[in-house]
Amino acid sequence: MSVTFRPLHPLFCAEVSRDGKPLDLRQVHDRETLTELRDGMDKYGVLVFPQQPFTNAEQLAFAQRWDGALHAKLGSNVVDKSRLGNPALGDTSNLNADGKVRDREDRHRLYSLANRLWHTDASFRAPAGRYSLLSTRVIPKVRADTEFADMYAAYDALDAATKKQIDKLQAHHSIAYSRQTLGFTFSEKELDNLRGAVQPLVRTNPRTGRKSLYIASHANSIIDWPLPEARLLLLDLMTHATQPQFCYSHEWRDGDMVVWDNLSTMHRGRPYDDINHKRELVRVTTLDADHVPGSEAKVLDDAALV
Ligand SMILES: [Fe+2]
Repeated sequence: MSVTFRPLHPLFCAEVSRDGKPLDLRQVHDRETLTELRDGMDKYGVLVFPQQPFTNAEQLAFAQRWDGALHAKLGSNVVDKSRLGNPALGDTSNLNADGKVRDREDRHRLYSLANRLWHTDASFRAPAGRYSLLSTRVIPKVRADTEFADMYAAYDALDAATKKQIDKLQAHHSIAYSRQTLGFTFSEKELDNLRGAVQPLVRTNPRTGRKSLYIASHANSIIDWPLPEARLLLLDLMTHATQPQFCYSHEWRDGDMVVWDNLSTMHRGRPYDDINHKRELVRVTTLDADHVPGSEAKVLDDAALV
């Protein structure tokens, strides 16, 4: 029996099952099922897989079966990234190296708060991130949702003049910029190593030809545009793309794995009491293989960064 996709929203997002039961992704190795899942991803942009008791090693292995190369430069070298011991494992937790909840003033915590701004993963890198696989380890007792926005629908809903205006534009994305908008400060040396990447404002899914708006809180300028005019357009596009009708909020359950396409969605963590509640999720992101340096994007960042 084939895979079933149960829509979670009128426009995008679906929960996946097979034969009326959760599909154990650790056991999925066959090309037929993986192709069905990839087709579902092209349609829904966000797929929810319940009851996935992944270890870190199993999650890394499945991500490679899903899409090949993994992104090993997910963030920056500004904060401690050593807790999980592998640069392809993104630490989406509020824990320090001792496994304790971080203090309110902890610099890593303050840096990570910008993950609550709308973004798409690793757009400040070239190549950017393509698919992100986020898996639960510890779910807090309070709600700590992740919200998604459908960037296919956002693009489709733009008027024809705006589509024409932005079709060939390129934006500069920087992880330093998104954090600076919240007042986080960097040293000159840190900023030297966070030069970001240039990305098209409109992306096309190479398998379906469908266009999506490609923006994020990392986007800070448009190439060859005056800065105030560029930021105004980026703000207008962000406001447009995150209207409630384009958004789905996922309430995490123990064992959930959520996989999304960074080309066709944005996401953000929703606020919760992270001082008093432990939360641990692990993220693996694949490389955007259709978006290599020398094609659409320019490499601006330091290759030595992790
Ligand atoms: Fe993210």
